[in-house]
Amino acid sequence: MRTLIKNGTVVTATDTYKGDVLVEDEKVSTIGSSLDIAADKTIDASGKYVLPGGIDVHTHMDMPFGGSKSSDDFETGTRAAAFGGTTTIVDFAIQYRGQTLHHAMEAWAKKAEGKAVCDYGFHMIITELNDQVEGEMDALVRQGITSLKLFMAYTGVFMLDDASIFKALLRTGKNGGSICMHAENGGVIDVLVQRALAEGKTAPKYHALTRPARAEAEATHRAIALAEIADVPIYIVHLSAAEALEMVTEARDRGLPANAETCPQYLFLSYDNYEEPGFNGAKYVMSPPLREKAKQDQLWRGLAFNDLQVISTDHCPFCMKEQKELGLNDFSKIPNGAPGVETRMSLVYDGGVRAGRISLNRFVELTSTSPARIFGMFPRKGTIAPGSDADIVVFDPNRTVTLAAKTLHMNVDYNPYEGRRVTGATDTVLSRGRLVIEDGKFVGRAGAGSFVKRATRS
Ligand code: URP
Ligand code: ZN
Ligand code: ZN
Repeated sequence: MRTLIKNGTVVTATDTYKGDVLVEDEKVSTIGSSLDIAADKTIDASGKYVLPGGIDVHTHMDMPFGGSKSSDDFETGTRAAAFGGTTTIVDFAIQYRGQTLHHAMEAWAKKAEGKAVCDYGFHMIITELNDQVEGEMDALVRQGITSLKLFMAYTGVFMLDDASIFKALLRTGKNGGSICMHAENGGVIDVLVQRALAEGKTAPKYHALTRPARAEAEATHRAIALAEIADVPIYIVHLSAAEALEMVTEARDRGLPANAETCPQYLFLSYDNYEEPGFNGAKYVMSPPLREKAKQDQLWRGLAFNDLQVISTDHCPFCMKEQKELGLNDFSKIPNGAPGVETRMSLVYDGGVRAGRISLNRFVELTSTSPARIFGMFPRKGTIAPGSDADIVVFDPNRTVTLAAKTLHMNVDYNPYEGRRVTGATDTVLSRGRLVIEDGKFVGRAGAGSFVKRATRS
């Protein structure tokens, strides 16, 4: 099967040029100008960008959480991802206490197999560490699950103590894996939550008011310090606070291999959203919470100057009805998370590139190339080059869309950006050479996506 994408502007993390791209079966085979080659399918990309497919390294499909389950499964979630120009996700499998990592891996593989419409990998969340689990970590890395997520918050559910975190970091120094950290001080947050509830403060906004930026900064600093002592890299997930970014910047200025991601919600939404009337603030209950609008410029600066390397989504949708509503009378019972896998590329293009905050190449780097590099998928994914997977997005930089739950494809009854107009939208998507979205319509197939075995750190 040959597909020729003609007359577009090819954009990678380093280059922008007019060119034609020939895809043969699952791979990019040739790039050139005015390619005159017979193809089974020709896509006219005149006036459009031809981008490497977006890579979202932080999603939670079909994830049990807080007495509920995230409302997208691997089929609806990856379909929505594709509509939004993302062709690979890395989702979080969870080892619950008393379980082996192997069990967790099998459970998540079952959730994805036969459902994912585009490619996927897994990180492993470790909630209990002992000698046997440490041994299993090595096996997991050999199987291509080369990153783990550890939590410094959610006492009694996900949180690990510093000794366990340190042991896990040391192990990655030997097996070539890497640690992603949820950096918030869980102990401090628990005390603040209990105090707020005892004072009758139950509204959604208290979720944010009991998770101060300094609790994120402290944990970020501690995570980096533990990694420094263990002499291994660290990756901070869903960084939201400028105060936490200062910790990452300080470490990077000292030459430490500290990386971090932020997410669109921390760039485009703010604490003010929690003040929306009634129970609306629940739409934005996520951890870490949204921060002050005035601090967002610091995140953008971090993205522009490479103190932040990745924009992922932390896509973890829960419907307002029956799910977020679990916390109607107690903010601490609102399932944490929000939808975002479908809106990332358009939001960041519109609010980043068009607004003059980041270059077009940096946009590609933050949403595709850098996550591929950091998580062992480059150059198979994250770029357009001969031999790379033909995960390609034809992106119209001039089409304006209005974000709305009704017209988006995520399986959730609200959208945090409802009514926002963004310019820059995905037209056509190929996943390993197969058409998944054509002129804005889904033409893919559940189960066509494959597990991506990721490489260790080199
Ligand atoms: O609120 C969030 N972020 N929910 C998903 C779980 C996590 O910590 O990433
Ligand atoms: Zn987290
Ligand atoms: Zn998450």
